[in-house]
Order: sequence, then C-alpha cells, then structure tokens
Amino acid sequence: MKFARLASTGILALAAYGMLLGISAFAGSDKATESKPAVQKPEPGSPGDTLTREDARMALLVYKLLDKDGKIKGANLKRGEKLFMQNCKPCHGDDGHRFNFSNFNEPPAFIGDRARKEMPTFWYQLNFGDDDRGMQAYIDEFPLQDLIDIAGYAQTMP
Ligand code: HEC
Repeated sequence: MKFARLASTGILALAAYGMLLGISAFAGSDKATESKPAVQKPEPGSPGDTLTREDARMALLVYKLLDKDGKIKGANLKRGEKLFMQNCKPCHGDDGHRFNFSNFNEPPAFIGDRARKEMPTFWYQLNFGDDDRGMQAYIDEFPLQDLIDIAGYAQTMP
C-alpha cells in the first residue's frame, strides 16, 4: 500500500517535471524565434536597474577597477598625489600616518596599508564616508577619475 502510494506520487512528480521541461523547452524555442537576447540586462540607471548607489560603486571597483593583484587600474598617480595633498592630508597627514586604523594589540595600519590590502574598505570609505568615525563621503565631491587617482596613489603610500 505504502509503496504503491509512493510510486504513484513519484510518477505524478515525474509527470509534473516533464510538463515543466516541456513548457520551458517550448518557451525556449519561442524565445529563439525573437531577435531579442533571452536575458535582457537593464540599462544602468534605468528603472529596471535595482542596484543601490553603494552596490553600483562597489561593483565598479570589483569588475572594472581592480587588476588580478588588487591594484587600481588606470590611476594617474601624479594627479592622485596632488589631490591627496589638497584634500586628505589635513586630516590624515602627508604620509597618511596620522590615524592608525588598527585595533589595539594589532600592528599599526595606515592609509597605504588599507589601500593595498583592503581596497574594498578603502573605496567604500572614500566614496561613502563614515559619519560615526568622522570620515566624509567624496562620491559627490569628485568625479570618478579623481577618486580612482586618489585610490591608486594611496596604494603607493608608506
Ligand atoms: C576632516 C578630516 C578628514 C578628511 C579631510 C579625510 N578623512 Fe579619511 N578619515 C577621517 C577620520 C576621522 C577617519 C576615521 C579614523 C579612525 O577611525 O581611526 C577616516 C577614515 C578614513 C578611511 C578608513 C580607513 C579604514 O580602513 O577604516 C579611509 C580609507 C580614508 N579615511 C581615506 C581618506 C581619503 C582618501 C581622504 C581624501 C580624499 C580623506 N580620508 C579625507 C578624517 C578625514
């Protein structure tokens, strides 16, 4: 009895699965006759694009700005140095050593260490700041290329 019930459930499940397959195969062939690609990506910034501003900026870093060694690509280091000295030095010092970001008991870590070893953290802080800690957001202050130059230069700091 039990076995028979199980078996018939199984057959029903198989049949349902088959229908699903049939439907998706049909849908697939339907799609193929259209000229549009099967999966359409929303245009960046369009109503269908649901990435938050934060996500979009972080995705840009991961997919476009970092090379395989975690170095920022396409940074003009001379411009980055100038921008750092004008904007960041007053708080972080000209060598970036005025604030130590480490916890007690850990070796000290400064702007350069963070930029080399934890660029996602660095990039997030540079773009969106941290009110609680007193770091301001720069996403609306500088064009993207300036932020890239600053991030690239910061990776060369001691
Ligand atoms: C008005 C002062 C001020 C200015 C200007 C400033 N910062 Fe900061 N920044 C801070 C403070 C304060 C912190 C938090 C320090 C702490 O928590 O020990 C911080 C934190 C950071 C962090 C976070 C590091 C980490 O790993 O947690 C980064 C990255 C950073 N700043 C980069 C920059 C860059 C790049 C600039 C220039 C574009 C800049 N800051 C300009 C005050 C400033």
